[in-house]
Amino acid sequence: MRNVKISAIGTYVPPRVLTNVDLEKMVDTTNEWILERTGIRERHIADPDTATSDLAVEAAKSALAQRGLDPAELDAILLCTVTPDHFFPSTACLVQHRLGAKRAWGFDLIAACSSFVYGLTTGAHLVGAGTHSKVLVIGADTMSRIIDYTDRATCVLFGDGAGAMLIEPAEDGEPGFVGFRNEIDGSGGDYLKMPAGGSRLPPSHETIDQRLHFVKQDGQAVFKFAVRRMHEISADLLKQTNTSAADVKVMIPHQANLRIINATADRLGLTPEQVVINIEKYGNTTAATIPLATMDAIQDGRLKKGDLVLFSAVGAGFTVGANLWRWAL
Ligand code: UT7
Repeated sequence: MRNVKISAIGTYVPPRVLTNVDLEKMVDTTNEWILERTGIRERHIADPDTATSDLAVEAAKSALAQRGLDPAELDAILLCTVTPDHFFPSTACLVQHRLGAKRAWGFDLIAACSSFVYGLTTGAHLVGAGTHSKVLVIGADTMSRIIDYTDRATCVLFGDGAGAMLIEPAEDGEPGFVGFRNEIDGSGGDYLKMPAGGSRLPPSHETIDQRLHFVKQDGQAVFKFAVRRMHEISADLLKQTNTSAADVKVMIPHQANLRIINATADRLGLTPEQVVINIEKYGNTTAATIPLATMDAIQDGRLKKGDLVLFSAVGAGFTVGANLWRWAL
């Protein structure tokens, strides 16, 4: 496999902010409970006429502008999401058309909160194989569309947003892709899901009355799995690539819960300076958390060219993933 690098990044969040204090007026919750149990203060929410492709296009345009790249030069678009505009056509098709990425093929990639890590791995291999030169990986989710704002156990957790990273060939010795470990444990499928709307339980008056088109979660079961596996898969990847925790400049974890992130960092032996956390601003934006947190790390001066960065995530499925890259921007 030839060396590949992340050559551009762009992000976008919709302007409207929903704070914990706003949520206090909607459900039986408090700012204190949300902050203490999750680390979230506020999240961005899309307007009713904004869909996932709209967020994705903004993030993609920003990444392409950073690189000065004509969209027609893209070879493929990998659109990571659990909230596509439609089942089909794929959101990748909508974004390809809106960008004018005339030569690109692509597809939607569904791995819930791990999907951006899976997207980076897939993009690295398409470019690494020598068959593609420019692959745009986009993570975009409009979680507010599938959240029940009468259910306090889930509605406080999620937000909307998007991020994109461009993958291109790198010279030998240039910073780039180091390694990955991705897994599925499908035995956890029932712990976090949107029960209805697919071929198992198509939409009906009953599914709507029973509120089955919204995210349902056994929070504690997901929490326990996430704490254990996010640490284990990250540790396995470090071992596989002969990397010590001290070599990692920053870990950029999926942002689902501050306590999950801190427990993972502790178990890996990372210092607080090595861990990027921005959950307080955005909540859990599913496929977008990792690019959004990466952008914050760059803007804060914590991630620079040549630094080793560990991306790590656990999501519905269960899906689990970790990627190690040397940052090239
Ligand atoms: O990104 C995909 C992966 N998702 C995750 O990683 C999420 C993993 N899970 C979690 O982050 C946590 O389990 C939650 C944040 C969802 C919940 O935190 P918890 O500490 O596990 O709380 P809990 O579910 O055990 O609930 C504790 C109490 C319950 O009340 P009782 O039964 O003790 O009286 C809940 O009813 O907190 C109550 N509760 C709330 N209270 C105020 C649940 N949600 C709320 C709320 N406000 N929003």
